[in-house]
Amino acid sequence: MPAVVETNHLSYTYLPGSVYEHQALKDINISLTKGEFLGILGPNGSGKSTLAQHFNGLIRPTSGHMTVCGIPTSDPKLSKDLWKKAGLVFQYPEQQIFQVTVFDEVAYGPRNLGLPETEVAERVYDALRQVGINQENINQLSPVTLSGGMRRRVAIAGMLAIQPEILILDEPMAGLDAAGRKLLSDILKKRHEKKETTVMISHNLKEIMAITDKIAILDSGSIIFFGDVKDLLMKPEILGRYQLELPEYLQVVYRLAEKGFAIKTDISSMQEASEEILRFLQENKHGA
Ligand SMILES: Nc1ncnc2c1ncn2[C@@H]1O[C@H](COP(=O)(O)OP(=O)(O)O)[C@@H](O)[C@H]1O
Ligand SMILES: [Mg+2]
Repeated sequence: MPAVVETNHLSYTYLPGSVYEHQALKDINISLTKGEFLGILGPNGSGKSTLAQHFNGLIRPTSGHMTVCGIPTSDPKLSKDLWKKAGLVFQYPEQQIFQVTVFDEVAYGPRNLGLPETEVAERVYDALRQVGINQENINQLSPVTLSGGMRRRVAIAGMLAIQPEILILDEPMAGLDAAGRKLLSDILKKRHEKKETTVMISHNLKEIMAITDKIAILDSGSIIFFGDVKDLLMKPEILGRYQLELPEYLQVVYRLAEKGFAIKTDISSMQEASEEILRFLQENKHGA
């Protein structure tokens, strides 16, 4: 399977040569194939947003290389092609809404692709439906009259309407209420099922574990871990160091294993955990 994303020794320094020089990314080597879902975790200031902005070429490596959908992100001549293929949803995207109506806001990307207006409209309605906005009457509203959570949905719909090959979301759950988080989590799960390549930055292992299959952990600009979720769960030292809290169902399984019970800990979903706990209970029914 060809890589959709590949970085080779990618490093990035803000304001090189000035007194403010700061190396935000150091020797990053990651790759992602089509359909994979990557979660990026790390403390504040670890370089997550800087890395996110590399995916669509907004920031170019100071040294090393990055290709996204086969396009070298450093080549300014290809930046328009890259923009069509890699859609980046910024942190707090609702602050960057600038069109007069919801419809125009979501149509901005498809119109820039040069699509005919009928297809633009189809894409707008489809994208709005995906983010749970069905009412026709919302389309002509001004985005500023909507709540923050609704504006976030509109901003995400604007990126979905471009139908990028890879979607990158920078902390999309931050500040959303429970209903908003559930909706977004369902949208992202669906993308994953449809094998649409996605990168999501998050603060919360619990929130991302349910969706992702690969995880990268950044600290001070370096990758501390890159691999499958299951492998991360085998590394209590890393989980402890970054205070990565496990979902309750895994805590139950680990607690039983720690107490010496024969229970499988190699588990990555609620479904698997419930099957294993059920098996465990049935086996131990007659008193351990
Ligand atoms: N525009 C900038 N100019 C200079 N330094 C920056 C800039 N943006 C971010 N940084 C610095 O780069 C580091 C990584 O920042 P960032 O990528 O925003 O981290 P995160 O998203 O993980 O919080 C931080 O030390 C931050 O202060
Ligand atoms: Mg950030």
